[in-house]
Formats: sequence, C-alpha cells, structure tokens
Amino acid sequence: MLSDYFNLELKEFEQDFFDQLETAGQIKQPSFEVLPYFHTVYANGEKAGVVGYHPTSLRDTGNVEIILAPEFRGKGLIEKVYETLADRHGLKNLYATINRRNMTSLSAHEKIGFKRLSEEKLTELRSRGLLGSEEVRLEKKV
Ligand SMILES: CC(C)(COP(=O)(O)OP(=O)(O)OC[C@H]1O[C@@H](n2cnc3c(N)ncnc32)[C@H](O)[C@@H]1OP(=O)(O)O)[C@@H](O)C(=O)NCCC(=O)NCCS
Repeated sequence: MLSDYFNLELKEFEQDFFDQLETAGQIKQPSFEVLPYFHTVYANGEKAGVVGYHPTSLRDTGNVEIILAPEFRGKGLIEKVYETLADRHGLKNLYATINRRNMTSLSAHEKIGFKRLSEEKLTELRSRGLLGSEEVRLEKKV
C-alpha cells in the first residue's frame, strides 16, 4: 500500500498550520479544552494534516476529525492516521460525523471500515439535537 511508504508522527496541534489548510472549514476549530487530543500529522517529516477527537461520555470512544493537506490525499493515509491516533490515546471506538455532500470523505471512511449508524439511530440523534440534518454519523471499532 502507498501509505506504507509514509512514516507518520503525531505532534502537537499547530494553529498556524491548521489556519493555512484551505479546507480547514471541513472541521471545526478545536476548542482550548480538546487541544491535547488534536495533532499536526507529519508524514516523512512534512506537515501532512490535522487529526484529533472530541472525548465522549463513553469510555475509549472519541468523535474523530481529520483533514489532510491536498498533496497528501488519495494515498490511503486516512487509515494509518486514525490507527496512530487510536493507539496514542487508547481509543477503541471511533465516531465520525460527516456532511452528506462530502462524498470523498464518506467513501474514504467506509472504505476503511466505518459503518453508518442505522437510519433509526440517525433520526433519534437529530431529534435530540445531537446531529445536524445535513450530517451522517459513522462508527468504527478498532
Ligand atoms: C477525507 C480525507 C481525510 C480522506 O483521506 P485520504 O487519505 O485522502 O483517503 P483516500 O486515500 O482513501 O482517498 C479518498 C479519495 O480521495 C480522492 N483523491 C485521490 N487523490 C486525491 C487528491 N490528490 N486530492 C484530492 N482527492 C483525491 C479519491 O476519490 C480517493 O478515492 P479512491 O482512492 O477510492 O479513488 C481527505 O480527502 C481530506 O482531508 N479531505 C478534506 C477534509 C475533509 O473533508 N475531512 C473530512 C471531514 S469529515
């Protein structure tokens, strides 16, 4: 796999680099409280993206977020980046909340084993105000 050629490192979140990513709007600005759970991703020593998670009330479970710099997309890095994040923070369950129109992200997550929650569950989350009408949520056990 192409991603095997990349040595990944997760370092401290760097605000300047996050601000430079032109699609940074795809993920929310991490609040001060969650900064310890967010990282700048380095691939072979170069800044390649940002990954992190919001802790949940469930043990070992995080709501993950990822953005890769354009030149690092399409190389299958997503899987290895999430594996490294889960390993670092002891996460066993990953949830991803994705806009329905972000087909690239939806298919990239499904390709690495994320499963959409049932329509019933999605409807319930929306009715409780926990999920936007334009969003879907997917889950992966690691
Ligand atoms: C979503 C994202 C993290 C996927 O990670 P990835 O490591 O690039 O995933 P993959 O390597 O599996 O590639 C996914 C798809 O990107 C597309 N792609 C391929 N090369 C690409 C490139 N150079 N630039 C943009 N997209 C490319 C392809 O459609 C590819 O699917 P395919 O391999 O089945 O053809 C990444 O595209 C990204 O950072 N997107 C912008 C931010 C975003 O939407 N984040 C998710 C918010 S929920």
